[in-house]
Amino acid sequence: MSLFARKSIPALQREAAATGDGTLKRSLSATNLVMIGIGGIIGAGIFVLTGHAAASHAGPAVVLSFVISAITCALAGLCYSEMAAAVPVAGSAYTYSYATLGELMAWIIGWDLVLEYGVGAVTVAVGWAGYLNGFLEGFGIHIPAAYASVPFDWVADKVTHIDHFVSTGAVVNLPAMLVVALVTALLVVGIETSAKVNAAFVVLKVSIVVLFIAVGLGHVLHSNWVTVANPEGLFIPPNLGAGQFGWDGIVRASGVVFFAYIGFDAVSTAAQESKNPQRDMPIGMLGSLAICTVLYILVAYVLTGVVPYDQLNVAQPIAKGIDAMGLPWLAPFIKFGAILGLSSVILVLMLGQTRVFFSMSKDGLLPVSFGKVHAKFRTPARITLVTGMAIMVAAGLAPIGLVGELCSIGTLFAFALVCLGVMALRLINPDLHRPFRTPFIWIVGPAGALASFYLMWALPADTWIRLIVWMAIGLVIYFVYGQRNAARVRAERGEEI
Ligand code: ALA
Repeated sequence: MSLFARKSIPALQREAAATGDGTLKRSLSATNLVMIGIGGIIGAGIFVLTGHAAASHAGPAVVLSFVISAITCALAGLCYSEMAAAVPVAGSAYTYSYATLGELMAWIIGWDLVLEYGVGAVTVAVGWAGYLNGFLEGFGIHIPAAYASVPFDWVADKVTHIDHFVSTGAVVNLPAMLVVALVTALLVVGIETSAKVNAAFVVLKVSIVVLFIAVGLGHVLHSNWVTVANPEGLFIPPNLGAGQFGWDGIVRASGVVFFAYIGFDAVSTAAQESKNPQRDMPIGMLGSLAICTVLYILVAYVLTGVVPYDQLNVAQPIAKGIDAMGLPWLAPFIKFGAILGLSSVILVLMLGQTRVFFSMSKDGLLPVSFGKVHAKFRTPARITLVTGMAIMVAAGLAPIGLVGELCSIGTLFAFALVCLGVMALRLINPDLHRPFRTPFIWIVGPAGALASFYLMWALPADTWIRLIVWMAIGLVIYFVYGQRNAARVRAERGEEI
């Protein structure tokens, strides 16, 4: 039964240690990895979702929602770090599952990661296009509406509440396609160039976030916590129903702002391109997560301290915060920072997607020909182009209402499986050399898995239905194609697993 076949750890470690032609280039330092983590993390989540989470669910206590999400990510990050340091291969969670839980689980997680990285990149590309339009309009430049939006959207009927497609009258979202095309080209050309561009964007976006915090802290007034529904101006506004304020709202908001943390785990997909993965994988993942957590908590505190939270349900809440501080000159800089910030998120998420597909192709779960490394660039150029084209088409056409929330549920599912996988590997292979050991694994592992399932639970039912449909499609592909092709590839190579 190949369903439960596991890849051997020594074979994976040999794969990871291979160098020279036909392998990925090892050029990333610890600083590069931290930058990749921050590049993937700070984006639409903090620039857009913070406002909605505060206005609809948590009020000023959205600060606590950021803390809860960060704890979930830290638990998963500790588990990822052990795996990524012990088995430093490009496939990340997909490969860890192959080594611990067997081929079927590996396929499931690989297919699931498309929701995190691929669908995440589509979602952020659409957000990027929105910010670009807003920025250009500030200079009187208008992209024709027909070419700035997808042709169909997926919305709930106002009366029946049943979801359905509606025509938007537009043709295609050209700016979203353009940014994906540019990022694809960058990823093909090389990991070092990609890392340099990412680092430049990260420095700019972090500077802008720090500027917002530094200027904003002086304008925070706790009297802004007072609203009609919170006349006493409590930090945690009184509960108004399921998911609306109070503790329940804080948890619901942490499901929403979780999106803001997605991306730190993409660092693990660059393990095979890292110079010293044993030492640097934990630094890259946990370091970027720690830096962003501090920034997020401060941004959330400043934002809800300068604008009453009930006014924050807007597309550009940070811009609203700046207006409230009476500093309109800062707005174009913040918008520009957001555009660069979102660009690096797309870059890192697409990096993650291409590396996972690369590993799946090498194992035969996807066509083997996709898994070739470009002779000159030393990047997985073919799979990068194929992935780039798919994401580009989706960004130009896919209704964002249909795919948006899928990213969070897919990521949480991956986190849960990595937490379970790291415990499984401790039992299966207790003597494996582990350069980084998850502290208190029998507490951190179960807590990480439970916290991930808990946040998944807090997501709406239709997101679950979409996850199940996506997984069902994946299983059909696996049984029709992947299982046989992987077995054939193994037989050809004379591999036993
Ligand atoms: N964390 C990324 C963002 O917020 C996905 O855009």
